[in-house]
Amino acid sequence: MLGTYDLLQKSHTILRLYPVIGHFRYLFESIRPEIQQYFVESDINGIPVNREFRALVYQRAKGVRDTRPFGTIFDVYRDGYEWINHSLNPRPVPKEDPRILFGGAGCSRPYAASPVNISAMSFGALSKNAIQALNLGAKLGGFAHNTGEGGVSPYHQEAGGDLIWQIGTGYFGCRSDEGYFDAELFQETACKDVVKMIEIKLSQGAKPGHGGILPAVKLTQEIADIRHVPMGRDVVSPAAHSAFSTPEGLLEFVAELRELSGGKPVGFKLCIGNRTEFLGICKAMLKKGITPDFITVDGGEGGTGAAPIELTNSVGTPLRDGLIFVHSALRGIGLRDQVKIIASGKTFSAFHVLRLLALGADTVNMARSMMFALGCIQSRSCNTDKCPTGIATQDPSRYKALDVELKAKRVARYHASLIENLKELLAACGLETLDQLKPRHINRRVDGTSIKNYAELYPFIACDCLLEGAVVPKQWEDDWQKASATHW
Ligand SMILES: Cc1cc2nc3c(=O)[nH]c(=O)nc-3n(C[C@H](O)[C@H](O)[C@H](O)COP(=O)(O)O)c2cc1C
Repeated sequence: MLGTYDLLQKSHTILRLYPVIGHFRYLFESIRPEIQQYFVESDINGIPVNREFRALVYQRAKGVRDTRPFGTIFDVYRDGYEWINHSLNPRPVPKEDPRILFGGAGCSRPYAASPVNISAMSFGALSKNAIQALNLGAKLGGFAHNTGEGGVSPYHQEAGGDLIWQIGTGYFGCRSDEGYFDAELFQETACKDVVKMIEIKLSQGAKPGHGGILPAVKLTQEIADIRHVPMGRDVVSPAAHSAFSTPEGLLEFVAELRELSGGKPVGFKLCIGNRTEFLGICKAMLKKGITPDFITVDGGEGGTGAAPIELTNSVGTPLRDGLIFVHSALRGIGLRDQVKIIASGKTFSAFHVLRLLALGADTVNMARSMMFALGCIQSRSCNTDKCPTGIATQDPSRYKALDVELKAKRVARYHASLIENLKELLAACGLETLDQLKPRHINRRVDGTSIKNYAELYPFIACDCLLEGAVVPKQWEDDWQKASATHW
């Protein structure tokens, strides 16, 4: 019967030519993304790593053997290969896990954070089971869980893991009926004990200059109610904030949120675009005397649940360049010690974390590697509601298969192994604390036999050199002059 149907139908040539067995083509096509992702390796610096790192996250999350036999898979003579300098005087591995204190001068309720935390991913992009597992994982492991811009859902609060509440341009969770910021609603949630810090999202690396997107196919009544949006349409947040429109306005908003939250650390997340605009924020910090408690720098290589491909591939400064710029600018205006820097973008191993810390980050946020810890197989169906692992879907028949307790343990285990390996690396470098890491500790083969360390590749500008009366470095002069505290 199937063969007769295939011969008579007109929409699939393959089935008319190959009745019955032609269906195998569609079967294989439907699982191709998973197969392809498993066997075709993508790269970082031209080095095939995707499969290696995903396998590593799985092993560490499951608590199975994660050592490697035989040696590195990297071609160490290839341009772009990077490594860390170890010491002939390695230190003992520290017993205590490091913590980093967030909260500058204007903050009365500082937060001692882990060096690695879960990056922003909303309830909506992720299923309720995935959110529950991440939050329980954060609770078990003593680290923080960023809510993403979709608001604080009940699933973020059941386990009681520390939350960083992210507020995007849609103001979900603190939104008036007209879609503007509502101070009263904000205060209600911000004052909850479980909320430890507040993050204003200006942009994210995968789609900078574009608001958040939740495809209509993933919008359930429950999510629509939490976000205060109508059913049946894609939820697309505006590209820009309505609560402020200038660098000074942003900092006034930071101060307002800090006060409304009862003195919790408040910062903002962005992917660096026009340098003058960020320098405008720096000028506004000096002029207003208001500093954010932290700045999250997301790389153009960042991930997303859904975004236009041009924005994902070709907009936004890559992480390391953006991070060095932000770190340098804060040094230049003499406020680096007041503002913590969080970095996010393609980190899977402790070396990836350490590399960012050496370049100036204080802590690192991870999104996709945490998804791997939950069991993501990178089928890239987050925007279709057909996620085969129940992580990035709102279809109950799919997400119910995700066991919250089991996956939470995996998330916690993966985090614990990262911290352990980070401490091991630090000890191997002969260092005792994370802040002793410097750019000179990381080397890169730049061209054949030429090797440079990060201090040579990415020279920082001198402390205070952007302040009144100081000599502004030549390469910064133009941007610094053009930057304005009163407009972007
Ligand atoms: C499924 C998914 C949803 C995301 N949702 C948000 C979001 O709501 N807000 C945000 O600022 N970033 C969001 N991101 C970006 C991540 O928080 C992170 O900045 C980026 O993916 C880089 O980290 P990674 O390379 O460790 O994934 C999302 C990423 C993914 C994969």
